[in-house]
Amino acid sequence: MDRTEKLLAKLPENTAALLHNPSNIFYLSGYTGEGLLLVAPGIKAVITDFRYVEAAQKQCPAFEIHSIRAGVGHVKLAGELLEKHGINKLLYEDNIVTVRAMRDMEKAMPENMTFEPLNFAVEALRTVKDEEELKAIQHACDITCQAFEYICGYIKPGMTERQVQLTLDYKMLELGAQDMAFSTIVASGENGSLPHAVPGERVIQKGDFVTMDYGAKVDGYCSDMTRTVAVGEPSQKLREIYNIVLHAQEEAQSALAPGKNCADMDKIARDIIAAAGYGECFGHSLGHGVGIDIHEEPRLSSRSTDILAPGHIVTVEPGIYVPGLGGVRIENTCVITEDGYKALCSASKDLRIL
Ligand code: CO
Ligand code: CO
Repeated sequence: MDRTEKLLAKLPENTAALLHNPSNIFYLSGYTGEGLLLVAPGIKAVITDFRYVEAAQKQCPAFEIHSIRAGVGHVKLAGELLEKHGINKLLYEDNIVTVRAMRDMEKAMPENMTFEPLNFAVEALRTVKDEEELKAIQHACDITCQAFEYICGYIKPGMTERQVQLTLDYKMLELGAQDMAFSTIVASGENGSLPHAVPGERVIQKGDFVTMDYGAKVDGYCSDMTRTVAVGEPSQKLREIYNIVLHAQEEAQSALAPGKNCADMDKIARDIIAAAGYGECFGHSLGHGVGIDIHEEPRLSSRSTDILAPGHIVTVEPGIYVPGLGGVRIENTCVITEDGYKALCSASKDLRIL
C-alpha cells in the first residue's frame, strides 16, 4: 500500500483530502513545489501553476498534474475534479488553512460540498518511518556527527559564536547536506542559559562551555543533535551540571522502547535533574519526533499521551540552564526498534575539553 492508499484507508468512504501543508504534500507525493495535493478514491492530483508543472511531473509520476488557468484557481480546480468524481465531502487541514482561505474555499467549491478537519491524519502516518526514511535520517545524522568531529578541532578561544555557526553550516553542506535542518544554535559561556540562543558576536573564552544544537537535511529529512563542549578546563560547577545532564540523557535514552509512555521518558530525565537540585533549570520537554519537519509527533513531554512504537524517531535532549552562568544540553536522535532503540548519532557524549 502506498502512502496515499494508507491515508484513504483511514478516511470515511468517498471522502477527499485536500493538502496545503508542504511537509504533508512531500510525504504523500514527493512534490516540493508550490500548490495543493488532492487525494480521493480515483484522484491523485497535484494542483499547481505553470512554473512547477514539469518539476511535478518528474517528482511524482504517479500523480496527475493539473495547472491553474485564468479564472480557475487551485481550489476551484480541485472542486472541478471532485465534482467529476461525485465526491462531496472534503477534509482539510484546519491548522493550516487560514480563516480567509476557508471563506474563499467555501465560495470556490461546488455548492453541495461539506467540509471537515482532516485531524492530523497525515501527521499520524508520518510518525512511523519506513526503511527509506530511516536511511535518509541516518545519513543526516552521520553528516551531523562528522561536522561535530570537524568543529571540535576548529574551535579556539577568540572565535565568535557566529564563526563557529558558519563553519558548522558550511561543513554540513560540504559533506552533502541539502540544507540545515533548522537554524544552527551556538551558545557560549553565559549565553548557554538560553535554550534557543541565536549565535552572535560573543567571543569564546577559555573555560567556556559551548553548546551546539544543529542538524542536516538529507533527501527532505532532518537530523537533530546537541553537544556541549568545554574550551579549556571548565569550572567544577559546570562539570557538575554536565554530569547531571549526561546522566539524565543516558537514563532516559536507554529506557526508550516500543510500548512505553512518552510522558514516562520525560519523567525519568526530569526526576534525575530535580533530584540533583536543578529542577527549575530544565524548563522544556525532553524531546520530540523528527522527520520531514524538525519538530513532529510524538512528543516526549509530561503532557503527552503518546506511546512509543517501532519506527518512531525521537530526540532525547535534557538540559540545565542557569542564568548568568551558562548551560548544558545533550541531544541524540534515536529510532525506536522492535525491541528497544538505536541512537542514530554516533558522536561521543563524554565531556570534550578542547
Ligand atoms: Co536540537
Ligand atoms: Co531537538
